[in-house]
Amino acid sequence: MGEEHFHFKGIHKNSDVKEREIVMSLNVLSRNEIFSEESKWRDPGRSEYLAMYSGVFGGVVTDPALMVIPIDDHIVHRGDGIFEACKCVNGYIYNFDAHLSRLQRSAELISMELPFDLSHIKQIVIETVAIAGIKDCTLRIFISRGIGGFNCEPKECYKSNLYVVVIKTATIPPHFYTKGISAVTSRIPPKPPFFAQVKSCNYLPNALVEMEAERNKVDFTIMLDQQGYLAEAATKSVAIVSKQKVLIYPKFDNILRGITILRAVELAKDLIEKGDLKGTSCTDISQEEAYNSSEMLLFSTTPNVLPIVKYDGKRIGAGKPGPIFHQLWELFQKDIRENKKILTPVFKERN
Ligand SMILES: Cc1ncc(COP(=O)(O)O)c(C=O)c1O
Repeated sequence: MGEEHFHFKGIHKNSDVKEREIVMSLNVLSRNEIFSEESKWRDPGRSEYLAMYSGVFGGVVTDPALMVIPIDDHIVHRGDGIFEACKCVNGYIYNFDAHLSRLQRSAELISMELPFDLSHIKQIVIETVAIAGIKDCTLRIFISRGIGGFNCEPKECYKSNLYVVVIKTATIPPHFYTKGISAVTSRIPPKPPFFAQVKSCNYLPNALVEMEAERNKVDFTIMLDQQGYLAEAATKSVAIVSKQKVLIYPKFDNILRGITILRAVELAKDLIEKGDLKGTSCTDISQEEAYNSSEMLLFSTTPNVLPIVKYDGKRIGAGKPGPIFHQLWELFQKDIRENKKILTPVFKERN
């Protein structure tokens, strides 16, 4: 290695180390090098990122290279933050107020002050989606404890921050709906009840649960709660339809209060009226009850509802998506497109 390798580029301008004292292989990059169109760190996935509002910048950016969060924001190094994910379909945000209420509830549970009141947050989100400019997208709202340092204590944070990211909605593989999905029971220890109820940015157990699914060559993994009852999937609520035609879903003491499953319970009233369901029940579900159910379902914002046809290697019901799945799927499609009571328009409505 020649003398040329001891290049000033590698030494911080405030460094008291003399330029020839260490061998450098790293470059100190300029702003222009980082944010140039050809930046090497920009991976192809970033074309899916449409717009980001940052409370730190006080505005919206649409260049993915600028969608950054300061590393001393406690959301980054302590996971001290909360979030919500909602979807916009055909220019309308579905069940937005329910998501905002859950955001507020998460904030209260961890004593986090929202940076703005909910109506202001709502307006910022709507405008960010409008700037993104597409009618079908997913929006993620993050509230962080704030910037201020690298300690753990929230008190060092100056104030909480809002970040909103609008991305293209992920495509659900069509065979998930037509053929159904497989799942196994997770071996990852469940989150303690209090933490499971907060939609916080602490998703390490959930991430490990996702990895388990891959390792077991199934589509999803279902966690059990501390008593051994069915809890939830990494990012989805679970329910069964019993042989007695009751839609049963777990109590929300040990899991996140799923907005989609609660909507499904409302929509299921239609099926009860028609006699296709006997009722709904919010109670513990054992693994045995799940194995013997006539249908098993997962619920979450992006796919609405998915049919589990194999659980822990056992066939569920007829081993194919069942009638309650099909009807709930239809009811969701109608609700998302027609139920003006829970649709928030992003773009000007034309009568
Ligand atoms: C842990 C967990 N449970 C359940 C859900 C389903 O919630 P929702 O129906 O509000 O999407 C999610 C969604 O992200 C989740 O992260």
